[in-house]
Amino acid sequence: MVELKTPGEIEAMAAAGGVVARALAEVRGHAAVGDRLRDLDLVAREVLRGARASSPFLGYQPSSAPAPYPGVVCLSVNDAVLHGIPTGYRLREGDLLSVDCGATLDGWTADAAISFCVGSTSDDDARLLERTEHALHAAIATARDGARIGDISSAIGAIARDAGYGLHTDFGGHGVGRTMHENPHVPNDGRSGRGMRLRDGMTIAIEPWFMAGGRDAYRIDDDGWTLRSDDGSRGAHFEHTIAITDDQPRVLTRLA
Ligand code: MF3
Ligand code: CO
Repeated sequence: MVELKTPGEIEAMAAAGGVVARALAEVRGHAAVGDRLRDLDLVAREVLRGARASSPFLGYQPSSAPAPYPGVVCLSVNDAVLHGIPTGYRLREGDLLSVDCGATLDGWTADAAISFCVGSTSDDDARLLERTEHALHAAIATARDGARIGDISSAIGAIARDAGYGLHTDFGGHGVGRTMHENPHVPNDGRSGRGMRLRDGMTIAIEPWFMAGGRDAYRIDDDGWTLRSDDGSRGAHFEHTIAITDDQPRVLTRLA
């Protein structure tokens, strides 16, 4: 079942989304060579605490995970793309960092992610970052009342393939609202014109993640969380929570 949200509920989600956007901006602003990942988790915790928001990530444990998630952000470096744990690892010059954050405020949740390089950005990384973020925005542009989930999926898949990047339909986008993961699933590849019809009041997270090596395979570390490209190539991940409206899609995880 997919719950349609009222305008008031969407405003509440936008408030949660504003907290997510601030946390991501603060983490990005702090991230520097030599910083430990767990210090960046503390930066995000402070933003959530200051907003009286809780974290839908902290303690989250899907049946596939061996242990509850230990942070409020996922911090994935280089060949890690998703669900990297905030460890004592210290950032190095040129590391590609993906930061994923959620916040729950007054019972409503929003979820977003950004990727960027620490210090200098190689040309290859710049292209990977640009193409992945472009896929997010192209996908958002398709998300209109009456369109279908497959329109979002195919927009993402086409950009990855054109660029020669690997992608996988596991861990795609998802409905979001009262909880972090709701129906529908929004795969990162698929056929336009297929799948569930989008309706005014649906709220979904769209989250392309691409792997530079061009292979689609990934593996999960022994920690049960960290997802890496199987070929060791770098990955990037961008995500927004959006609301489908009777007009343009509304991005709920933007800085106010
Ligand atoms: N944005 C991710 C997702 O939607 C992050 C959740 S993983 C968590 O799946 F464990 F950290 F919560
Ligand atoms: Co998400």
